[in-house]
Amino acid sequence: MKGKNWKRYTLYGLIAALLGSWAGGVLLIGERNPEARNLSPILTGEGDKILKRACFDCHSNETRWPWYSKVPPLSLGIAYHVSEAREHINFSKWDTLSAHKKGENLQEALHEIKEGDMPLGTYLMLHEEARLSKADVDKITRDISDLYGPQFILPPKKKHTHPGDEDHDDEDETR
Ligand code: HEC
Repeated sequence: MKGKNWKRYTLYGLIAALLGSWAGGVLLIGERNPEARNLSPILTGEGDKILKRACFDCHSNETRWPWYSKVPPLSLGIAYHVSEAREHINFSKWDTLSAHKKGENLQEALHEIKEGDMPLGTYLMLHEEARLSKADVDKITRDISDLYGPQFILPPKKKHTHPGDEDHDDEDETR
């Protein structure tokens, strides 16, 4: 008898966890791909293609949501990553940034790429096409320097200036 109850509670617990993570994912993202699109160049044609390939699934409103992004509990993790990423940099809102802010965003982006922190490792495991070659990184670096100024290819001064919007506490220092 007792054994059976445990099984049942475990099952209920599992179902509750799945429903919870499903709901959490829906709440986090709401509209999966909001309408705003950026129509102006970020770098050059080639540089933009590189960013699109490696960053846009998380840092834009043009996310390609794979089938497993609808399956809890994965759905929650993926929704969380995309919402966090869009908060830091959303290339679909590129138009709305000042020239200086654009430079700062790209400086931070280049830094993350060079440190090997971006694109996220878990994402790369499933998206080999997003891996950046040395030539890709060189191309982006040249573009940033040519278009925004050579100061933006230097490592950022503040370690974690969250480019984009509000000031976060640096609670994510553990990465
Ligand atoms: C799988 C999703 C994903 C992809 C793909 C991705 N990012 Fe991110 N990015 C995130 C998340 C989540 C955060 C916020 C948490 C963090 O800092 O780790 C973030 C944060 C950032 C930050 C802010 C870092 C900070 O600490 O202030 C920059 C800059 C950045 N990403 C650049 C890029 C660039 C450039 C690419 C493409 C080469 C890229 N990301 C690809 C998910 C992603």
